Amino acid sequence: MRQISLAEAKPGMILARHIMSSNGNILLAPDITLTGEYIRKLAMLKVLTLFVKDPDHPDISTAEYISIQTQQRALSILDTTLKRIVRGETFAPDAVDGIAADIVEDLLSHSGLTIHLSGILTHDDDTLAHSLNCSIYSAILARLAGFSIPQIKEITSGALLHDVGKMWIDKAILNKPGPLTNKEFAIIKLHPEDGFKALIAKRWELSSLVAHMAWQHHERMNGLGYPRKLRGDEILSYARLLAITDVYEAITVNRPYRRAMDPEMIYDTMVTGLGTEFDVDFGQLFLSKLAIYIPGMRVNLSTGETAIVAAIPENTPRQPIVRLIAHPDGSPYTPPKEIALAEYPKIRILSTKL
Ligand SMILES: [Fe+2]
Ligand SMILES: [Fe+2]
Repeated sequence: MRQISLAEAKPGMILARHIMSSNGNILLAPDITLTGEYIRKLAMLKVLTLFVKDPDHPDISTAEYISIQTQQRALSILDTTLKRIVRGETFAPDAVDGIAADIVEDLLSHSGLTIHLSGILTHDDDTLAHSLNCSIYSAILARLAGFSIPQIKEITSGALLHDVGKMWIDKAILNKPGPLTNKEFAIIKLHPEDGFKALIAKRWELSSLVAHMAWQHHERMNGLGYPRKLRGDEILSYARLLAITDVYEAITVNRPYRRAMDPEMIYDTMVTGLGTEFDVDFGQLFLSKLAIYIPGMRVNLSTGETAIVAAIPENTPRQPIVRLIAHPDGSPYTPPKEIALAEYPKIRILSTKL
């Protein structure tokens, strides 16, 4: 498997990972042969990169922690639920708890979790995709942090529903490419409380902690968050955990109005927030297990060589095992040579630009 940019996609290539729409439909499934028509359609949907099978590297692949069935069901239930909430209709909290349980069960079937980009919906701007990605990262972090299984499920439900208040905000403001005006930002700042109010109304069926996660996920350790400027321990541990995965999701995914940051910049942004914005303990745990590279991703090394990420070691997820494919002059490595970057501290990954 190898990651390519859409510009490099050619008819005849075989897809290695699925591409889904925001409502959970599979647009293209693995093993499908790309055609010119598919490539044009993906361009219209603003898909920027994709994973294709590469006969030269058949052994490189990523474990998908959450099965495609669970992802689809999650998106469809979440879609219905968020729409019902915004219309003021009753919704079934059981269904959300059910998907949270499915997500956690899928995760528990894997040992040695690292936090890697789940690769779902990287082309979509939807609150839906964001919420599902956040729920997966939150479940992983909660598990790493040693929460009990019922707690992990509660945190996962809270992450699925945390941005429900955004459903009342005009899409033009949510997806605005440039900086927001004060007035627009004031509107954005209403979503935690709006979400809380909608969720706490269900307090007999839904954990009130879930509602509080919606209210508190933009609070920061230093008291500079919103809406109530809570600080430190005044913020629920569940919300302190979600604050980390929420920011991480927002900066790692390509949205129509903003491209994802480079992996190293993502890491630095998270480190800078430790202790000021983010809880130190959760933050350090998150960073220690954060795999910012994905197997199959093409990387440029400080030696001038080009490589493909071959595997992510559990204990050094930031220093992947890479397979060198081209010398600095562009000539191919034959045969390709594999090195563990953890053993070569001087060699750095400079960029992942395709
Ligand atoms: Fe939010
Ligand atoms: Fe969010």
